[in-house]
Amino acid sequence: MSDNISGGHHASSQLDEASQVDLEKRNFLIASSTVGALGCAAAAVPFVLSMTPSERAKAAGAPVEVDITKIAPGTMITVEWRGKPVWIINRTAEMTAELPKHDDQLTDPGCEVVSQQPEYCKNKDRSIKPNLAVVVGICTHLGCSPSAKLQPKGDMGDNWMGGFFCPCHGSKFDLAGRVFKGSPAPVNLVVPPHKYLTENTLLIGVDTEDKA
Ligand code: FES
Repeated sequence: MSDNISGGHHASSQLDEASQVDLEKRNFLIASSTVGALGCAAAAVPFVLSMTPSERAKAAGAPVEVDITKIAPGTMITVEWRGKPVWIINRTAEMTAELPKHDDQLTDPGCEVVSQQPEYCKNKDRSIKPNLAVVVGICTHLGCSPSAKLQPKGDMGDNWMGGFFCPCHGSKFDLAGRVFKGSPAPVNLVVPPHKYLTENTLLIGVDTEDKA
């Protein structure tokens, strides 16, 4: 699971130095560890317990830089920020097109009742880039880590349009982290402060200056 924090501080310098062979190995490792992270989330293990003391200290307050080029469309990675799991979900065009279609099933579709996101993410995609959702992966009920159920239907049933399911008490969230009605979680998942340093580099923990 800790490998999955590979989107952090050291990723870009390591990539600069790596040979092509190493790059291929790295891509494989990232892909493998992403699957591992989803497994951990399914078991609802508190994320912070998996960290070493030095990792905890390092994560205490620093912004986290993430290379977003390795997140294939329709998949996600989990990085750590201030001891919390933060999901970065690369939604396909089909996934974002679905978002406004189920507003009537959500507790707070417009994200207006309780503000759980920066102003610059208060839009229909709940994100800066339409495809990339950045969400704190902690259930707003009692703090479990919901499981990714990104694809429609499957074991969530024919009406499922993709999102997250909290195994502790059954809360459901869509691919923008908005909570479905009937869930014990009262409010949407939190969108943390973030900005894009370049087209391919995300910084979690620092607000976008442009509040548009
Ligand atoms: S902690 Fe997620 S539903 Fe209770």
